[in-house]
Amino acid sequence: MAESIVEMRQKRIVLGITGGIAAYKAADLVRLLIKDGIEVQVVMTEAACGFITPVTMQALSGKPVFTDMWDARIADNMAHIELSRGADAIVVVPATTDFLAKLANGLADDLLSTLCVARECPLLVAPAMNRQMWENKATQRNVAQLARDGVVLLGPASGDQACGEVGMGRMLEAQQIFEAVTAFLQPKFLTGTHVLITAGPTFEAIDPVRGITNRSSGKMGYAIARAALDAGAKVTLVTGPVSLEAPAAARVERVESAGDMFEAVKKHAKAADIFIGVAAVADYRVAKTSKQKIKKTGADLDLKLVPNPDILAWVAALPKPPFCVGFAAESQKLHEFADAKRRRKKVPLMVANLAQDAIGADDNEVTLLDDIGTHTLPRASKPEIARQLVAHIAKRYKSRKNKSR
Ligand code: C5P
Repeated sequence: MAESIVEMRQKRIVLGITGGIAAYKAADLVRLLIKDGIEVQVVMTEAACGFITPVTMQALSGKPVFTDMWDARIADNMAHIELSRGADAIVVVPATTDFLAKLANGLADDLLSTLCVARECPLLVAPAMNRQMWENKATQRNVAQLARDGVVLLGPASGDQACGEVGMGRMLEAQQIFEAVTAFLQPKFLTGTHVLITAGPTFEAIDPVRGITNRSSGKMGYAIARAALDAGAKVTLVTGPVSLEAPAAARVERVESAGDMFEAVKKHAKAADIFIGVAAVADYRVAKTSKQKIKKTGADLDLKLVPNPDILAWVAALPKPPFCVGFAAESQKLHEFADAKRRRKKVPLMVANLAQDAIGADDNEVTLLDDIGTHTLPRASKPEIARQLVAHIAKRYKSRKNKSR
């Protein structure tokens, strides 16, 4: 049995809601956070309760909502201190002009603002306001002060506003805030490292309209890229054709064929500390791609296929290879075939998954195979699997690096 995966304790956040029309987006955000296994304590200002009810937020968070400094549910009436103790962050969504001004000046005249002043955890705020309120010099001064004070600003974005105007001040969408918050909460296992990842399928053209490809959505590779970024790494993502949005912070190289992917990997491999080959690279390509569309004649068609280069094996055979991780999708004898692949390609870590379970799905179950043994990550969403995997890779990478010193 391999030594256990890095323990990830449950995260806890205090979600503050202030009185703006974007408050409705906080409901969606709570759903996303809870689904991700994060404990959420909602605290609302009086004005927020005019836009969305505490009952809604209680139902979504599964916890009573606090709105009042003098709430008798906390025995010693210390809600303004108690609620944020042990929290990983306070996240204010939306943060109105008025609330930002209060924060910038350290005012504490209601439960949420007092909690923010009395906190010992990071504070993240998602501003939401009319564009002129955002552009107002006092608001800009307050925002600059908050940034200097170490408060993390999530947005705002530019776009349609509830007032009918268009401009800066629109709150980020719940999904964007969710991604920023979960990224912020991740331990920075990979700070200072460069991670090179291949993802998606490759497409080997037969003629201008036809080709050979593999069934890969790219979801696992993209989730790993995001998790590596969240863990503090610099990420280069070499991706075959997929219909996913790449993480904005990654350096992205879009390729089509295995040959293109190989060239892109060659360019970056020597500077990489870790290489994760998640791509489903086509094993063969046609010996000669036809420039013109091959006409249908009704007769048999012979295509000569030649093998593609094995990108992962090439990287692993470099004189000073990065820490290499491979993926094996098998339809049977999962561990046996994956381990054989690991030995053949000479990679320290192979991640095995069942092809019929993994391809295109939103969740996955994987087994990690290395010299020490095997370890299964139970079925979870691909982003969750990616986070656990990145934590494990970071641990293995560091112990290898220490040994080679
Ligand atoms: O295709 P195969 O099952 O051998 O793939 C296992 C691992 O090798 C995967 O990590 C995949 O990205 C990598 N691979 C590669 N180049 C190939 C074939 C596979 O890098 N030509």
